[in-house]
Amino acid sequence: MEISVQDYARECADKGLRGNYDVCRSDFTVEQEYDYTDAEQEVWRILSDRQTKLTKRLAHKSYLDGVEALGLIDRIPDFDEVSQKLRKLTGWELVAVPGLIPAPAFFDHLAERRFPVTNWLRKHEELDYIVEPDMFHDFFGHVPALTQPAFADFMQMYGQKAEGLIELGGGDMIERLYWYTAEFGLMQEAGQVKAFGAGLMSSFSELQFAVESPDAHHVPFDIETVMRTVYEIDKFQRAYFVLPSFSALRDGFEKSDLAAIIARWKDAPVLDPATI
Ligand SMILES: [Fe+2]
Repeated sequence: MEISVQDYARECADKGLRGNYDVCRSDFTVEQEYDYTDAEQEVWRILSDRQTKLTKRLAHKSYLDGVEALGLIDRIPDFDEVSQKLRKLTGWELVAVPGLIPAPAFFDHLAERRFPVTNWLRKHEELDYIVEPDMFHDFFGHVPALTQPAFADFMQMYGQKAEGLIELGGGDMIERLYWYTAEFGLMQEAGQVKAFGAGLMSSFSELQFAVESPDAHHVPFDIETVMRTVYEIDKFQRAYFVLPSFSALRDGFEKSDLAAIIARWKDAPVLDPATI
C-alpha cells in the first residue's frame, strides 16, 4: 500500500530530515518558490565553481554537453526555466520536492519523464558532505545526463519497470543497478574512462578518486553482475562499473530478461565489489 503524504511527513520528521512535507501535493511535489537568500546563492556558486573545475577534466562529454545545453552554473537554477530547455531536448521536466520521497512516487515521476529535484540547498558548513540529497546533488548531479536521449529513455524505462521487478523480489537488485549507473556510473570516452553518475558529479573527493586513482576498481558494465553486486552508502565505492555508452545501458535494460535474472540470483549470495 502506498504511504500517504501525512504519514511520510511524520516519518521524515522522526528521522530528522529537514524538508517541509506539510505543503506536499499527493504526488509529493511542491512549488520550488524561488526565494533563495544571498547566502544560499553564495553556497551554490562555491559548490558549482569548485565542482566545475573538476568536471571539465573528469566528466564524460555527454554530461558536459548537458551542462552547456542547460546553462547550470552561476546561480541556483529556476526549475521552470530549465524544464523548458529539457522538454525540447528529451521531453523531460523537473519537479520540485521537499527531499527524499517514497519509492513508488519516485518511480511514477520517472515513468512520466519528471525528475524530482529537492528545493533546498545545503548550508555552508556542509559543502563537503551532507546526509540527505539536496538540490546540488539532485540538480548538478542528475539533470545534465537527462539531456542525453539514450540515458533519458533508460531513466523513464527504469521508472516504468521498477515496481514490477520489486514485486518479483528484485528490489535490492534494481537499486544496485540505479546506484552503479545513475549515481556512480563511469563511461568510456575515446579510450579514457570518464564519470557521469550523480553521486560522483556532486562529490569533490570521490569524483577524483573514481576517475583518477590507481586504487579505483573499474569493472566493465554487465547488467547481471551489477544487479548482484552490493554497495555501501557512506564510503567510496569499492567498484565502479564502466559503460561503453548510454545506448548500451538503455538497450541492456530494455532487452535483458530482468525477471529471469532476478529469479536466478535473488536468493544467491551477493557479489563483493572488491573482488569482482
Ligand atoms: Fe541521487
